[in-house]
Amino acid sequence: MDKLTGQEVKGNHGVYIVDRLIARGGRSNILRAVSKERQEFVCIKVLTTWLDDSSIKQLQREEAITSKLRHPNVIRIFDTGEFEGRFCTIMELAADGSLADRLKIDRPMPLTAILPIVDQIASALNYVHRQGIIHKDIKPGNILLDGERAILSDFGIARVMGEQIITATSSAAGSVVYMSPEQARGDSINEKSDQYSLAVVVFEMLTGQVPFFGSNPMETVYRIVQSHPPSIRERNPQVPTSAEQVVLKALNKNPAHRYETVLEFANALSRASRFTDDPRELRPDPEEKRSNNTRTVDKSDLFTLALVASIGAFLGAFAAILLIALLAQFVVR
Ligand SMILES: Nc1ncnc2c1ncn2[C@@H]1O[C@H](COP(=O)(O)OP(=O)(O)OP(=O)(O)O)[C@@H](O)[C@H]1O
Ligand SMILES: [Mg+2]
Repeated sequence: MDKLTGQEVKGNHGVYIVDRLIARGGRSNILRAVSKERQEFVCIKVLTTWLDDSSIKQLQREEAITSKLRHPNVIRIFDTGEFEGRFCTIMELAADGSLADRLKIDRPMPLTAILPIVDQIASALNYVHRQGIIHKDIKPGNILLDGERAILSDFGIARVMGEQIITATSSAAGSVVYMSPEQARGDSINEKSDQYSLAVVVFEMLTGQVPFFGSNPMETVYRIVQSHPPSIRERNPQVPTSAEQVVLKALNKNPAHRYETVLEFANALSRASRFTDDPRELRPDPEEKRSNNTRTVDKSDLFTLALVASIGAFLGAFAAILLIALLAQFVVR
């Protein structure tokens, strides 16, 4: 039991009793707590980075916007409050931690495990993009896992603190490796920047490594802007060439050459992943396979069968009559 256990966190809509510390993140401490009113576990993120009053107000506004988002793969924000004088966000608790936790013990990950995560996060991103929101900080630490469910988190913090990432502490600087070239250059960003960052996460799941990193954040930024991504298949030959090409397209330095939407990227990846490079091992579409196996005899098949049978019967009868006529001639002679 740590010294936090049993302490009360006052939110704007309720009171939460701290159970334990889950993790120390780059910019905050993550606590597990129980809602006094609802008697269920929640997760509390207590900001440890100093923010001025106007940034705190902006963060409150951002969390209010996030709390209105409704999507099965977007984190539910229940409340905001203060703990030991620091701003905190009260949100749903993901039972299996983050993708960053998973990658510590399981990297590279098999395609079959990667695709459902990419599909769900792409669906969450597509939903928020349609509301005019860009996440700006897609990375494994912000993709939470709860059984089969992947959940996108940390919208408000990402949007308020996005600009501070490069200059922040070394652990927050971890975000830099997921940053798009346009974001790194300080150019204007759009939905395609989130697509790029998701492609970096996919690259990392497939190979166990991110495409660009240097010995310090500035060197990393330089490589993101200047270098070509390394080969995925050299690091993991089990990845089909077609899937590698999809990831490389989403990693294009020029946003105009990426997929139109993040959903297109996810769909292309799942289509490409059905094929290996050996044509004898083409993995059939399950739908196609099912329809091939269950092909039924239709009306035209029956008609052809009947026609062939009648012609056969007619020719048989004709041959029999001919034979009888010949035999009769012999008998008469
Ligand atoms: N809602 C949650 N439910 C369960 N665990 C969580 C939740 N949010 C965060 N965590 C845990 O806390 C860890 C740190 O999360 P945090 O968001 O602080 O890290 P980060 O995203 O890597 O850094 P930062 O957000 O500060 O840039 C995660 O890797 C995960 O293990
Ligand atoms: Mg986070």
